[in-house]
Amino acid sequence: MAHILLRDLDVPDIWQFDTYVANGGYAALRKSVKELSPDEVTKIVIDANLRGRGGAGFPTGRKWSFIPKTAQVKYVTVNADESEPGTFKDRQLLEGNPHQLIEGAMIAAYAIQATAVYIYCRGEFWDLAHALEDRIEEARKANLVGENVLGSGWSCDMFVHLGAGAYICGEESALLNSLQGLLGQPRVRPPFPAQMGGGLYYWPTVVNNVETLANVPWIIDHGAEAYKAIGTPESPGPKIFCLSGHVAKPGNYELPLGKTFRELIYDYAGGIPNGKKLKAILPSGASGPVLPATDEVLNAPMTYESVAALGSTLGSASFILMDEDTDMVWAAAKMIHFFKHESCGKCTPCREGTYWLDQIYHRLLRGQGTARDLEQLERVPKQMVGVTLCALGDFAANPVLSTVHHFRHEYERYIKQPALEKAGAVAEPV
Ligand SMILES: Cc1cc2nc3c(=O)[nH]c(=O)nc-3n(C[C@H](O)[C@H](O)[C@H](O)COP(=O)(O)O)c2cc1C
Ligand code: SF4
Repeated sequence: MAHILLRDLDVPDIWQFDTYVANGGYAALRKSVKELSPDEVTKIVIDANLRGRGGAGFPTGRKWSFIPKTAQVKYVTVNADESEPGTFKDRQLLEGNPHQLIEGAMIAAYAIQATAVYIYCRGEFWDLAHALEDRIEEARKANLVGENVLGSGWSCDMFVHLGAGAYICGEESALLNSLQGLLGQPRVRPPFPAQMGGGLYYWPTVVNNVETLANVPWIIDHGAEAYKAIGTPESPGPKIFCLSGHVAKPGNYELPLGKTFRELIYDYAGGIPNGKKLKAILPSGASGPVLPATDEVLNAPMTYESVAALGSTLGSASFILMDEDTDMVWAAAKMIHFFKHESCGKCTPCREGTYWLDQIYHRLLRGQGTARDLEQLERVPKQMVGVTLCALGDFAANPVLSTVHHFRHEYERYIKQPALEKAGAVAEPV
């Protein structure tokens, strides 16, 4: 199947404006602005059932439809913070086919009649951000961005903003605060970003992930029915799966949603190196529950609903694979250390919980763990779930609860044989 999202793999130099246009680029924006009303554009995206690729899978067209028409100022913000461990798809989209994102963002902006688009890039994307500014300038010169877009009377400019390397600024309300020059911490909701008072500078704002918006030109070009013919009815369309860890061919794979884990890992990505067995899968980076690599999991389709039914989340589909030699206690310790570092500290359960969990893992890995530590690993995360301002509190609980549930015997080994470290069986503590 030809790529829809990763067209840079099929068309050399598609990042260049002329090449993009020669391959049908900006026809969808032209069609939207010249032939369709904003509501018609939104309806096509609702009918296509495009779901947000940033993690939550929220229906994109519905999100656009929440923007109040009467607001004088409205914004689109592109979430290019891409900080989830194991996620590197937005980077390829921004590098390989930036005009596809610019076009998708402008179509979203037209649908809500936005006055400006801001692309929020993670701090480490500074080189990409500068290149993106050049691509936006090309689109501006072609009257596809800026004043009186394509002579329609609608004006909308586009700007790039660089973050400073904080995972929490990928969370949409922290991202908006950071864009406004405030401390990058999540906001209390409601009001939600789409509502008056909840968005950028408190105006109604759509926040969409890079990959989400990269789908939009194709949907407008080909229609909702063609889009729904890809994937499954509840999870339609193509998805980029980022594969890393113990896998023969790591990288980005664009596949229709609904392929099985087994197909992705063994048919496309070459399986597990050195003839090892696959032990566990993190389907959504560090933030979703770990899945053991059972036949039930491997044979399941990769869709939002089926991964949820397995007890995890598809999230941004950043698959970290772990082979039979992986120490699951060590792996969970790594993730907790990450969340402790990235917690913004605004909510007590997340700030304190990640700190205490990190301490417990340090004790376990140093061979000083007790049975009470294992009890605490089951108790502390449960007090963090559903009680915090943003989902980072839940994310931090996931690796702990899921590894204790599926790999309890590995934790028990640490408690029964606290001198494992001396025997050389423990990797470097975090
Ligand atoms: C702690 C945290 C970090 C997040 N990081 C990102 C990120 O790096 N990129 C992203 O697109 N969404 C991220 N999200 C999800 C965003 O809050 C938001 O749901 C998303 O940008 C919406 O876009 P979508 O509907 O197109 O998926 C994060 C959420 C949380 C709670
Ligand atoms: S859950 Fe954690 S990261 Fe999110 S707002 Fe609260 S303290 Fe900050």
